[in-house]
Amino acid sequence: MDQRREASAGPRALVLLTERGEEHMNQSSVLRAAVKNAITHKARAVSAICILIGLVITAAGCASTDTGDTISGASPVEEIDAYIGDAIEPLSGNEQVLIVYFSQGESTRQVAHDLATVTDGDIEVIEEKRERRGFCGYMRAGGASSFKIASRILPGKCNPADYDIVYVCTPVWAWNLSPPVRAWLKANRGNIRKAGFVTVSGDTEPDKIARDMERTSGVDPFVVIGFSEQDFYAENRNQYETKIAALIEPLR
Ligand SMILES: Cc1cc2nc3c(=O)[nH]c(=O)nc-3n(C[C@H](O)[C@H](O)[C@H](O)COP(=O)(O)O)c2cc1C
Repeated sequence: MDQRREASAGPRALVLLTERGEEHMNQSSVLRAAVKNAITHKARAVSAICILIGLVITAAGCASTDTGDTISGASPVEEIDAYIGDAIEPLSGNEQVLIVYFSQGESTRQVAHDLATVTDGDIEVIEEKRERRGFCGYMRAGGASSFKIASRILPGKCNPADYDIVYVCTPVWAWNLSPPVRAWLKANRGNIRKAGFVTVSGDTEPDKIARDMERTSGVDPFVVIGFSEQDFYAENRNQYETKIAALIEPLR
């Protein structure tokens, strides 16, 4: 009899354990559901506002303490040691070409200079009034790009209205047009006859940014090309040259 009780006590104890376990699981699922319900749209909006306030406070705090390096990391451009004119026959037309660019690292600068070589064009570098440095510079750059804020830039030397073709080259920041290039496009709206747009990014498609450049400048581009980090690696040199060639092909 005792043995039977003992024998049945084992499975019963297991059943009780399982029941307790299920009860526990049920309680935690209810809790999870309650938490999920608590995160309403309203709560998300409040979180977004808090993040925004945090960004503003960070940027304000950074204003006087920003002493780090510039915001771009090591550039793959350094690996390339080739003259673009050896691979691509330069344009032979009489059209006046201007290449405008902003570059925090080296990549966009490299594209702009190679474009100038194959078009025999002039170069205009966009410079910001305030340099971006370190973590705070990175945060400000990302924030301003996301909110489509144009930065303050120094006056340019060239007038785009004097040129038949203007290539505008921008790095991609936070999946957007960089603030200094936005500022230049805004300032020169109505002053550009024919434009090609170039984006340079880690790995972001150019389409959305080109549409923004078009809206900002009022010019429908005759060509849009996006360079990504991989295009600058020595082993992808052909890919890089193909994109440079595609930028001038419509002008041949
Ligand atoms: C503030 C900041 C934001 C960036 N955001 C993006 C991004 O959203 N997508 C992307 O593909 N690359 C992004 N990048 C990488 C740059 O687009 C890429 O390094 C580009 O080559 C920079 O051009 P530059 O060397 O001429 O300055 C970002 C870089 C910085 C500094």
